[in-house]
Amino acid sequence: MSQDNAKRRAAEAAIEHVNGGDVLGVGTGSTVNIFIDLLAEKRIRLEATVSSSDASSERLERHGYKVVDLNSAGTLDLYIDGADEADPHLRLIKGGGGALTREKIVAEASRRFVCIVDESKCVKRLGEFPLPIEVIPMARSMVARKLVAMGGQPKLREGCTTDNGNVILDVTGLELTDPIKVEAELNQFPGIVTVGLFARRGADLLIVGSADGVDTRRAGS
Ligand code: A5P
Repeated sequence: MSQDNAKRRAAEAAIEHVNGGDVLGVGTGSTVNIFIDLLAEKRIRLEATVSSSDASSERLERHGYKVVDLNSAGTLDLYIDGADEADPHLRLIKGGGGALTREKIVAEASRRFVCIVDESKCVKRLGEFPLPIEVIPMARSMVARKLVAMGGQPKLREGCTTDNGNVILDVTGLELTDPIKVEAELNQFPGIVTVGLFARRGADLLIVGSADGVDTRRAGS
């Protein structure tokens, strides 16, 4: 089975969690694109959506869904998004698509975060996928030096400016056995806007699509 079919299985299972009439938080990436298309295909009616990227907003609007500002939406019931890596504790690496800052905001604003992935994203320990870090452009070199001092190898993502006008450093080699601690340490460093570690607030539910079907994992189980 192709990776796209596995993503589709996960996206289809996530539709079951959506209540018609919700204001729904919607993430970014190829798995979420499949999810958005399925919402439309299945004619799921939503009061509105809050989106984590310009790309997802455009796709939602193309299908006729209303996209509203988080400030006017308040707390959301549900956020659906993909991930680049997920560990058994449902802690994630995100940001491969560059939308990590808004993704973290919408995840934080939501009571439930349902993460949809194909099985290739499931890892025992986070860190194989380069960790995306969104950085204010003037702090790029300083932040890179900090990451090197922590044992990482940062690489500037070429040609990428985030929706917030910042740059992304993709970092390999960091020790991520305690991702909550690393997330907290990097979060407080000047110039870093967002770390692509979703460890303090990971997913509440992980839906994994594969050739065998769909496996649903809960945080803490
Ligand atoms: C976007 O910035 C990311 O966090 C995505 O959620 C992540 O990269 C997963 O994307 P795919 O669904 O395309 O694998």
